[in-house]
Amino acid sequence: MLKEIYQQPEVLRTCLAAYLTGNRDVPINLNLPIELYNDLDQIHLIACGTSRHAGLVAQHWLEQITGIPTRIRSGSEFVSAPLPIATNTLTIGITQSGETADTLKALTINQTRRSELGDRFQARQLGITNQPNSSLAQLVDHILPTWAGTEIGVAATKTFTTQLAVLCCLMLDLAVRRGVIVSAQLQQWITVLQQLPEQIARILEQEGAIKDLAQQLVNSSHCIILGQGVNRAIALEGALKLKETTYIHAEGYAAGEFLHGPIALLDQQIPVIAIAPEGSSQAAVLETVRKVQMSGAKVIGIVSNREATPDLFEDCLVLPAIANELISPFLTVIPLQLLAYHIAVLRGLDVDRPRNLTKAITV
Ligand code: G6P
Repeated sequence: MLKEIYQQPEVLRTCLAAYLTGNRDVPINLNLPIELYNDLDQIHLIACGTSRHAGLVAQHWLEQITGIPTRIRSGSEFVSAPLPIATNTLTIGITQSGETADTLKALTINQTRRSELGDRFQARQLGITNQPNSSLAQLVDHILPTWAGTEIGVAATKTFTTQLAVLCCLMLDLAVRRGVIVSAQLQQWITVLQQLPEQIARILEQEGAIKDLAQQLVNSSHCIILGQGVNRAIALEGALKLKETTYIHAEGYAAGEFLHGPIALLDQQIPVIAIAPEGSSQAAVLETVRKVQMSGAKVIGIVSNREATPDLFEDCLVLPAIANELISPFLTVIPLQLLAYHIAVLRGLDVDRPRNLTKAITV
């Protein structure tokens, strides 16, 4: 797992190079036929586990930037409660293994239900996977590989950040085709994407500080992670990493929503991690942190501008400056992956093979 966490700068570079051309006129090339994602009325995302969290980040991007109504459903829920059929819908299955039975079943159901309907309802299915020769590829007409290389650790890390990269390129391509971003804005997004490998490498250099934090949290039985906006999905992903590798009961919440009930859980024994990079969601997270402090809980911040949060956190991990809040999930997830890894190691657990889990649930 540690090796795979450290490979992220390199595989992200490889993944971005597969989709960003370096050509100013056509900067993104996904090699997809235009009929697949022309004139979309809706986008449906289907995924499980960590892949579902990548889908939640993408849902935020797609709705906020392209304006295309986007729904997401876990493969396991889709099987018993499929998303209502809409016209001109791009359905995207996200699965690093390409073998998760629930995601494959959901895509099959979608295909079958639509096959009896008229042209505008026909399935347009796209798969995002790290295994282009998997069962997923036999089910959908088009695949976007994540180019992360083999991932052995059961808890997904580098396949997650590369899924985000592919989804971001897809979102930008759609935004250009719909005319909702201009060339200069697109170039800014691409510049920020290309800076990510270097920025992630700088976060990895803070491993010592993250290890110290792991030492403080190693005996906790519970942990709460808060994020807002696009980072709500990273709060969920950070909590999943903790559950999968350390067996600590961890939950992720939207910071604002946390005040409406769950805050009653807190006492001095439950540490809270607040994801609060600079940007439009930061104020809401800090507001919740102030209320959380009254419970006596220890609050750890993941911030990018330390000066904006003087004395608010007991401990702080400082990320590189965030040029575009929407891209911050690529960075905010890294300390949470490392934290989960180090707590698991300190607890003497087999971090690569957590109990009761397999890399993909295929039946
Ligand atoms: C299993 C794994 C998770 C993973 C999920 C989805 O539950 O234990 O870590 O996120 O499957 O896997 P997929 O291959 O579909 O991305």
